[in-house]
Amino acid sequence: MPTALGVREMSGVSIRNVTKNYGGGTPNAVADLNLEIPETEFLCLLGPSGCGKSTTLRMIAGLENLSSGEILIGDVTVDSVEKGVFVRPEDRNMGLVFQNYALWPHMTVEQNIEFGLKIKKVPQAEREKRIDEVSRTLGIEKYRKRYPSEVSGGQQQRVALARMIAVSPRIILLDEPLSNLDAKLRLEMRAELKRIHNELGSTFIFVTHDQWEAMTLATTIAVMNEGRLQQVGKPEDIYERPANRFVAEFVGTLPINIIEMSSGHGNALKTWMSAYLSFLPIDASEIASVGLRPRTLVIEPAGADGTRNGMPRCAATILDIVPTGGSWIVELDVGGDRLLGLSGNIDGLAAGNEVTFTVDRKHVHLFDSGSSRVNVV
Ligand SMILES: Nc1ncnc2c1ncn2[C@@H]1O[C@H](COP(=O)(O)OP(=O)(O)O)[C@@H](O)[C@H]1O
Ligand SMILES: [Mg+2]
Repeated sequence: MPTALGVREMSGVSIRNVTKNYGGGTPNAVADLNLEIPETEFLCLLGPSGCGKSTTLRMIAGLENLSSGEILIGDVTVDSVEKGVFVRPEDRNMGLVFQNYALWPHMTVEQNIEFGLKIKKVPQAEREKRIDEVSRTLGIEKYRKRYPSEVSGGQQQRVALARMIAVSPRIILLDEPLSNLDAKLRLEMRAELKRIHNELGSTFIFVTHDQWEAMTLATTIAVMNEGRLQQVGKPEDIYERPANRFVAEFVGTLPINIIEMSSGHGNALKTWMSAYLSFLPIDASEIASVGLRPRTLVIEPAGADGTRNGMPRCAATILDIVPTGGSWIVELDVGGDRLLGLSGNIDGLAAGNEVTFTVDRKHVHLFDSGSSRVNVV
C-alpha cells in the first residue's frame, strides 16, 4: 500500500525462540519467546514490572541484542544469532515512543516534528504537508510555534507521538507511553491512539503493566511473567478464559476470588465448592484452585436457598457494601473467608445481612496443581 512517504513494506513481526540474558548470573530477562504479530495488529505486551516487556520491545527495535533465537519483520530476518544477521535500528523503519519522551527543548513543536523528516531527507514541501497532517491528527495545530516547556505534559506526549508518526514508520513501538499522564489525559490519549491505529494501519506494539489499558486498547494481548509468555489472545479470551492462575489474577479491575481446594482444612467455602464441582463433568480431584470473578457472583437475600440453575448456593454474611459509582462492591464473609462480589443492584442487601450466593457454571475458572486452566467440556 503506497503512503505519502513511500511504499509500505510488509510489517508483521515474528519472534522465534528468543532468549535474552543480560549476563552476570542473572536469570533470563526473556526466555524462549515465540510470538507472531500479524500486520496492522494492535498488540499489547502486558505483565508486571520486570517481566521482560521493555527488553522484548528493545530487541524488536534492534536496541538490544538477542542471546539466542531470531526476529523477522515481514519475511526479512532482522536479527539472528545463528545466521549472524543484524539489521541496525535505523534501517528497521520503526517508530519508538517511551514513557520519558525526550523532545528537543530548544526546538518549537513543529521543529521537533520536522526533525525526523529532515534526517530522512524528505523535501521541504513534503515536510510541511506532513507536519500539517500530523498536527491536525493529534490536535496540536495551536501549539506549533511553542516550545515544549510552554505546553502541558499531555500536549508534549502528543508532540512525541506526532514526531514519531510523521515519518510513517511501518511498526510503532510504545513503551508505557501513558504512564506519566493524569487519569483524564490517559483516557483521551488512549482513544487517540486507537484512532491513530485505525487511520495509519501500521502495526502497533504497546507495552504496559496496566491491565485495563491493555484490555481497552489491544486487538491482541500477550501476557508475560518472569520472562515467559503466559497467554496470547483477544482481550475477551484473556479475561474469560485465562490460561493459568497468573493470568486470571493479573487481569481484572477487581481481583478474582481464589478458593484453594488442595490445602487447608475443610472450611465452609471449600465445602461449598466441593459440592459445586461434583455437578461438573470433570475429575474434581484434579482441581487445586478455583477462581470466581467478583461480578459473576449472584448474591441474593437469605431464603433463596438450595440451588440456582441446578448449582448449589453458599451461605454468607455481608461485611460491607462499597459504592463505586453505578455498581457496588459487596464484601462477603464465608466462615472466616473473605470474598468480593460486584453488583449493579443491591436491592434488599445491607451490611450485616445473611445472604446466599452462587455463580453460573460458565463463569467458574478451574486450575490444576500446576496452576493451568482445566476446561469444563
Ligand atoms: N540493561 C540491563 N542490564 C541488566 N539487567 C537488565 C537490563 N535491563 C533489564 N534488565 C533486567 O531484565 C528483566 C526484565 O526487565 P524489563 O524488560 O525492563 O522488564 P519490564 O519492562 O517488563 O518491566 C528485569 O529483571 C530487569 O532487572
Ligand atoms: Mg519496562
